[in-house]
Amino acid sequence: MSFALSEVSVRYAASAQRASLSGISLAAQPGEQIALIGPSGAGKTTLLQVLACGIAPTEGKLELFGQQPWSMPDAGRHAMRRRLFLAPQTPPLPPRQRVVTAVLAGMLPQWSIGRALRSLFAPVAAERAFEALSRFDLGDKLYLRVDRLSGGERQRCSLARLLVSEAGLLLVDEPLSALDPVLAERTLAVLQQEARDRRATLACSLHQVDLALARFPRIVGLRDGRIMFDLPREAVTDDMIAKLYRDAGAPGGQADMDAPAEPGQPARQPLAARCF
Ligand SMILES: Nc1ncnc2c1ncn2[C@@H]1O[C@H](COP(=O)(O)OP(=O)(O)OP(=O)(O)O)[C@@H](O)[C@H]1O
Ligand SMILES: [Mg+2]
Repeated sequence: MSFALSEVSVRYAASAQRASLSGISLAAQPGEQIALIGPSGAGKTTLLQVLACGIAPTEGKLELFGQQPWSMPDAGRHAMRRRLFLAPQTPPLPPRQRVVTAVLAGMLPQWSIGRALRSLFAPVAAERAFEALSRFDLGDKLYLRVDRLSGGERQRCSLARLLVSEAGLLLVDEPLSALDPVLAERTLAVLQQEARDRRATLACSLHQVDLALARFPRIVGLRDGRIMFDLPREAVTDDMIAKLYRDAGAPGGQADMDAPAEPGQPARQPLAARCF
């Protein structure tokens, strides 16, 4: 098992009106590719942060690679973090850093402190950064400063870090939000191929529902901190998608997955309504 969550809840503050995750149970076998979908505020980022050991569950149990990181001493948990890679929703790229250095940060967990320090002055594996960037059509940006990149280039630069890492659990939070539809497809294809090549488990949150359904074998729908469905993509219906997003964010807008379909509801929502 790559990861297993049992009855995990997260409450950021004791005073919070509701938990950000409520009783989540979810497990993945090595090599599985899972898309996390759901409206804004559903808990996708929180779930990925829990899997990355960035947030401790308030309740419930997290297992990673068969071990419980929060029952370990800090050093053990840090060592476990080296086996996973989280590409955050907002990439933390220092603006004045060169692209090559920013990408090579993905290799830091594998490096000694001495090697990491040397690389700050003269990148020690520039060819690895170049290869990774080239897979996202950014090979020519190797020595540019990060703050010279466009938003979409910056996003792919952050994903190039994932390619140079050696992690076996890849957690990717909205990797396509700054990309046009063609680049989004190509970028996702690279990420998924990389996960297959290294037999890594991939959990990826996406607002592009059509892309999630087209490319991921397993779809987890989250809303209000709960799993509304966890199904092979063939089993996910338009009705489920419509209910997952219906009135999200509106006062009293609770998803009711058991509610019958409304009479006269079209079989397929228009694309614009299904892609956030
Ligand atoms: N650091 C935090 N402190 C307090 N509440 C938080 C914090 N981070 C997230 N939340 C709350 O937890 C809930 C889930 O947020 P989360 O970021 O996981 O949602 P999301 O599904 O990733 O949304 P989006 O699609 O907009 O990125 C939201 O209600 C959010 O306001
Ligand atoms: Mg998020």
